[in-house]
Amino acid sequence: VAGLVLGPMLRFADDTRATVWVETDRAADVEVLGHRARSFHVAGHHYALVVIGGLEPAAAVPYDVRLDGEPVWPRPDDPRPPPVVRTRVANRTRLVFGSCRAASPDERPWSLTAAEHPLGRGPDALKAYARRLMRQDHDAWPDALLMLGDQVYADDASPWTRAFARTRRDTGRPPYEDVADLEEYTELYREAWSHPDVRWLLSTLPTAMIFDDHDIIDDWNTSARWLRQARSWDWWDARIVGGLSAYWLYQHLGNLDPDDLSDDPLYHEVGGLEDAAPLLGEMARAADRDPTTFRWSFDRDLGLAHLVTVDSRAGRILDGDRDMIDEGEWRWFEDRLREPTRHLLVATSLPLLLPPAVHDVERWDEALVAGAWGAPGVRLGEVVRQAVDLEQWPAFGAAFDRLVGDLHDVAAGVHGHRPDTLAVLSGDVHHGYVAEARWPDVERPLWQVVASPMRQEISLPARASYRFARTPPGRALGRVLRRLAGVAAPELSWDLVDGPVMANHIATLDIGDGDAVLRLEVAERTPSDGVRLVTAVERDLTGVQRSGRTATADRRARRLRVVDT
Ligand SMILES: [Fe+2]
Repeated sequence: VAGLVLGPMLRFADDTRATVWVETDRAADVEVLGHRARSFHVAGHHYALVVIGGLEPAAAVPYDVRLDGEPVWPRPDDPRPPPVVRTRVANRTRLVFGSCRAASPDERPWSLTAAEHPLGRGPDALKAYARRLMRQDHDAWPDALLMLGDQVYADDASPWTRAFARTRRDTGRPPYEDVADLEEYTELYREAWSHPDVRWLLSTLPTAMIFDDHDIIDDWNTSARWLRQARSWDWWDARIVGGLSAYWLYQHLGNLDPDDLSDDPLYHEVGGLEDAAPLLGEMARAADRDPTTFRWSFDRDLGLAHLVTVDSRAGRILDGDRDMIDEGEWRWFEDRLREPTRHLLVATSLPLLLPPAVHDVERWDEALVAGAWGAPGVRLGEVVRQAVDLEQWPAFGAAFDRLVGDLHDVAAGVHGHRPDTLAVLSGDVHHGYVAEARWPDVERPLWQVVASPMRQEISLPARASYRFARTPPGRALGRVLRRLAGVAAPELSWDLVDGPVMANHIATLDIGDGDAVLRLEVAERTPSDGVRLVTAVERDLTGVQRSGRTATADRRARRLRVVDT
């Protein structure tokens, strides 16, 4: 009898449709709410995505999963509420989001922070969130979960995946106990999403995801020089092919809506093959060699909000004119921004707006590598770039300027609509914050919200440098370096208004009729060894001008508590 290996994961839901993803232990017919899909086969693993239609809007429909007609989920003895497909509700949108979540055991020492024990990563904010949700009514549940990168750490695997690697190859040579190939990736994902509470959460909240570097490797695609070096490693091909194949299977496929799926030639093709691993491998190798062959970016209509998710890792152009994405993907993105919405949320794993001093240093470094200080500067710039991870949007200056320009046009109403909220949601940097940005000629602010990590640590040097960046000498140093490299200041000006939140946390954005309330909540251990979520930041992002007062004066911003442990 067939069984589930992972899932069910509710990946998509709108007014009447949904998709449910599963990994099964053998080939099977998968059935959810009377809709069926046949599993497809990839290197000994079996997957299916069931497309469900004909649902009622604003409904919560309990479901089970049947394999070859036999119910396999939920398990009869599971104390958690049954999983439901919830279709969109009018007049409110709730999004929960976060990034950087290392899979580790729950027990001590892993539940301790790194300051308390070298193996510790602290309590898992996603698990804490799942536990709270179980006690709440359906009405309080968010409409979607967005995971903003580093869903898995291929270069920092947990104890179980390391043990698995040791059973199948010589881990005394590269990539040592890091993930080597597709087979080890399947183990890494299984581990990340199998804890019963997390598995329950993923079965009942539609989830969208975009990768960051650690889903493949630290500093992935930082520069042309980095990539040339990576391609010289004899283990790199299996890693990148395994990583992108696994990403397509575990993350990308569920990002697509039913229309995208029915138009997707690769999705159709995998279903007809005895083993789709070679085909996925070909896709992965092509996407890595020529980023124009694949678009990982996607968008989702969340009701009151339009979520446009931009890949800022896999699609980079590294030779010649550096860019975050290729021209075709830019056009796709810019077309999405023309679609009217009340709340525009642009998601990208890497922050657009960093602390101003860090922004300046990234612009300075890119100018150096481009030759602003001659040959010695080129070498220095590349060394500094790789040593301290100067790789967010400002390190791709042209892409930063284009994205900021695109957002300016939206805020200025160039496309005939002016969203009440304009926010960029990001992860990556292992400390959460909110930055408020202003253009001189536009009333509405642009918000940068960073939610990272759900379960990770920020290194002491990184913590110290971000702290220094916020001091007046830090900011002055950044400005001087940027000017010395001949880079102009951006027209947009911004500052951090909340945070940094260094402890594990998760963000929610609660969009109602007249407001969009953002919360960052920190996972804290309770004295009884449980976990709870404590609000660290709460702020209304709508910034709509009311009764003649400025948006800034009117926003109901409250900084409840800044957690800087
Ligand atoms: Fe991370």
